Amino acid sequence: MSRMLSLLNWVDERFPLTKMWKEHLSEYYAPKNFNFWYFFGSLALLVLVIQIVTGIFLTMSYKPDGEMAFGSVEYIMRDVEWGWFIRYMHSTGASAFFAVVYLHMFRGLMYGSYKQPRELIWIFGCLIYLALMAEAFMGYLLPWGQMSFWGAQVIVNLFAAVPFVGEELAIWIRGDFVISDVTLNRFFAFHVIAVPLVLIGLVVAHVLALHEVGSNNPDGVEIKKNKGPDGKPLDGIPFHPYYTVKDIVGVVVFLMFFFAVVFFAPEMGGFFIEHPNFEPADPLKTPEHIAPVWYFTPFYAVLRAVPSIAGSAFPGVVVMGAAVVILFFLPWLDRSPVKSIRYRGLCFKVLLFLFVINFIMLGYLGMKPTTDLFKLLAQIGTIYYFVFFFALAFIPKFEKTKPVPERVTS
Ligand code: HEM
Repeated sequence: MSRMLSLLNWVDERFPLTKMWKEHLSEYYAPKNFNFWYFFGSLALLVLVIQIVTGIFLTMSYKPDGEMAFGSVEYIMRDVEWGWFIRYMHSTGASAFFAVVYLHMFRGLMYGSYKQPRELIWIFGCLIYLALMAEAFMGYLLPWGQMSFWGAQVIVNLFAAVPFVGEELAIWIRGDFVISDVTLNRFFAFHVIAVPLVLIGLVVAHVLALHEVGSNNPDGVEIKKNKGPDGKPLDGIPFHPYYTVKDIVGVVVFLMFFFAVVFFAPEMGGFFIEHPNFEPADPLKTPEHIAPVWYFTPFYAVLRAVPSIAGSAFPGVVVMGAAVVILFFLPWLDRSPVKSIRYRGLCFKVLLFLFVINFIMLGYLGMKPTTDLFKLLAQIGTIYYFVFFFALAFIPKFEKTKPVPERVTS
C-alpha cells in the first residue's frame, strides 16, 4: 500500500473522509440531463467563497469608525497593494451574488424544484436570500459614503413606521437617534462575522437537504424511481467527475465576465457602485435622489407603490415584507402535480414570462424618482407580483398539462 493510501486509511479510521467524499461527490448520483440553468448553484458557492476571502483582506485595512471609514476605503483603493483589486472584486461580487441567486431561483420556478420532496431545500434557499439581503444592506453602510448613509437612514426609518414601538425599534437598531458611528460599528460586526456565519450554516443545510432527496432536473422526473439492478438510478451519473468537470467550465466562463467587470467597469455606470458614494457621508446634505443598489430596487418599488395612511409608511413596509415572505409559501401555493415548465400548460408559461418582465420593470421603477405614471406602473406591478403567486393555486384546476415521461429525455 502506498504511503498516501495508508495515510488515508489512518484518517478514515478517525474521520469519515472517504465516506463523505463518496456520499456527496463520487457516489452522489445527479440526473444526467442538467442544462445551463444548473450552473448557478455552484456559481453561488463560488461567489460566497470570493466574498469571504476578499472580505477578510478588506477587513485588514478597513476602519469601522465614523471619522475614518471613508478614508480607509480610499486608502485601500490607492495605497494598499492590490487593494483596488480586492475591493472591486468584493463590490462586483455583491452584485454577482444577487445576479447568480436570482437566476438560480428562476430555475427553481421553471422546473418546480420547490415542490415535494424539495420544500426544505427551497425554504433554506429563502432564508439564504433573506440573510443575503441583510448582509448586502449592512455591507453597503461600511464605505460611509453619501448613499451608504442615506440609504441606511431610509431603510432603518422604515422600522420607525411600525405602530406603537416603531420609534424605539429604530433607535434600538441604530443605537442612536440618527445613523452614526455606533450604527457603523454594529453593522460592521454583523457584516463581517454574524451574518456570514448564518449564511454558511444555511448553505450547508441547503446542500445537505438537496443531497438527502436528490436533485430535480429540467424534465422534473424523479430519477430515484428508476433504479438499475445495482441500485443506482438509471438516469443518474456520479457528480464527480462528470459535474465537477462541467461546473468548472461554468466557473471559467463566469470568471471571464466577472473579471471583465472588475477590470473595465467596476462601477457599472453607477449600478454596482452608486455615484454619490464617492462623497463622504454628510448628515447635513441629503442627496437629490436616494435609491438602493439594483438588486433591491424591485422591492423598493413595491414599498413606494403602496400609499401611506395618515402619513405612515407602514402599509408599504408590510406589503414589501409580504413580497419576500410569500416566497416561503411557494411549495404550497403551486398545486400543479407537474413540476417542469416543459410539461406545463400555456397559462403557466405566460404567467411566468410576465412575472419576469414585471420583476424587471419593478427593478427599473425602483431606481427612478417617482412620477404619477411610474407610481401607477409600480402599483400595477405590485398587484401582478402577488397575483402570480396566488394564480399558481388556481391554474392547475383548468391547466392542460402534457404527459411527463418516465425517464429523462436527453
Ligand atoms: C448562497 C446562496 C446559494 C447557494 C450557494 C446555493 C447552492 C446550491 C447548490 C450548490 C445547489 C445544487 C446545484 C444546482 O441545483 O444548481 C442548489 C440547488 C437548489 N437551490 Fe440553491 N443556493 C443558494 C441560494 C438559493 C436560493 C436563494 C434559493 C431559493 C429561494 C435556492 C433554491 C434551490 C433549489 C430549489 C435547489 C434544487 C434545484 C434542483 O434540484 O432543481 N437556492 N443550491
